[in-house]
Amino acid sequence: MKSLNPSSIASLKVNGERLLQRLDALADVGSTGDGGCCRLALTDDDKAGRDLVVAWMQDLDLEVVVDKIGNIFGTWKVGAGSPVMTGSHIDTVRTGGKFDGNYGVLAGLEVIATCKDLGIAPSRPLCVGVFTDEEGARFAPDMLGSLVYVGGMALDEALDAVSIDGMRLGDELERIGYAGAAPCPGPVPHAFVELHIEQGPVLEVEDRAFGAVTGVQGISWQEMTIVGQSNHAGTTPMHMRRDPAFVAAMLAVYLREIAERFGGDQVCTVGKIDLHPNLINVIAARATITLDIRNTDEATLRDAENLVDTFCFQIEQDEGVSITKRQLARFEPVTFDERVIKIVEKRAAEIDERVKRMPSGAGHDAQMLARVCPTAMVFVPSKDGISHNPREHTEPQQLIEGANVLLRVMLDLTETDF
Ligand code: GLV
Ligand code: MN
Ligand code: MN
Repeated sequence: MKSLNPSSIASLKVNGERLLQRLDALADVGSTGDGGCCRLALTDDDKAGRDLVVAWMQDLDLEVVVDKIGNIFGTWKVGAGSPVMTGSHIDTVRTGGKFDGNYGVLAGLEVIATCKDLGIAPSRPLCVGVFTDEEGARFAPDMLGSLVYVGGMALDEALDAVSIDGMRLGDELERIGYAGAAPCPGPVPHAFVELHIEQGPVLEVEDRAFGAVTGVQGISWQEMTIVGQSNHAGTTPMHMRRDPAFVAAMLAVYLREIAERFGGDQVCTVGKIDLHPNLINVIAARATITLDIRNTDEATLRDAENLVDTFCFQIEQDEGVSITKRQLARFEPVTFDERVIKIVEKRAAEIDERVKRMPSGAGHDAQMLARVCPTAMVFVPSKDGISHNPREHTEPQQLIEGANVLLRVMLDLTETDF
């Protein structure tokens, strides 16, 4: 076994073909046939994806541990002390791509496989985490598995989360065979680094090779249920309506206005509107609408939330509807560890000096791990900035180079005392 020094790390490269093959094989599980993937958390397809990743972990002789929230950890028990951890998620949104999350997990396995191939003996264990329900698309909040792992949400509360299809998370975990025995919160890693596609346009537009991610913006997810008076679409005069569909539309427009007025990093999205009974000639009885509001600045994010509250109060009076709010997720902006960011910057620049420091627009498991250990992330470009979409794409060479950065950063972290 070879030992490491900082300069020997600089020449190491992963087996890119093996990484690409595994990405394709995992993408076949839950393939939507249009280049995309649907493996909503804790569905049968998620189970099949998990089984495949666990089999790869076993092929690598990793110790595989599943915790009580279903997070999977594959650890190469080499060296001494707490592990350097990487990882991400393999659940997807309903219209997911091949790379969101999967890339970080499989690149982590590739790092360990490469070290083993090259006979490298890191001074600390290396661990790859596969976190449950990062997307939050089936069970809110997002990043649920990593949140429970770091003690940010009680296990029982998480197990009682109810999915958009009415299932209890704990029951679904049991059903797919991933209700593990390891306790939550879990052991604190030495450091954590996550490799991910950017999922936005910045790196491509600025012709950068890598992002050294400085943090993750704050996120507020709310679900509003608007109740009015269902009635006949032809006979009810306009001034006598109490129309939840109209109010949902006004809220969507108002969110856009907030984003335009605030400018900067402010983003606002209405991703889901459900009407009941959802018929052409019936004024809706009820509308359910989701709001996704994000900003890198906590005070501004709070301002946006306050404006929404005031707007809801006013429109309740004006239209004669009632609005009830459910907070589905609320995470403050996160700043990553400067020491890890610098290691990412340095190791990325060894490969290509076009490295950009940038915040992440998307949520990531790394933002939860940052609560307990030195953490940062590496981004590679996303073609046309498209993600949460079957068209999500990153060039194979960029994927391989990103994994080379991950390899070097992880090894550097094993040699770094914090
Ligand atoms: C997770 O993908 C998010 O919504 O940021
Ligand atoms: Mn992701
Ligand atoms: Mn995602």
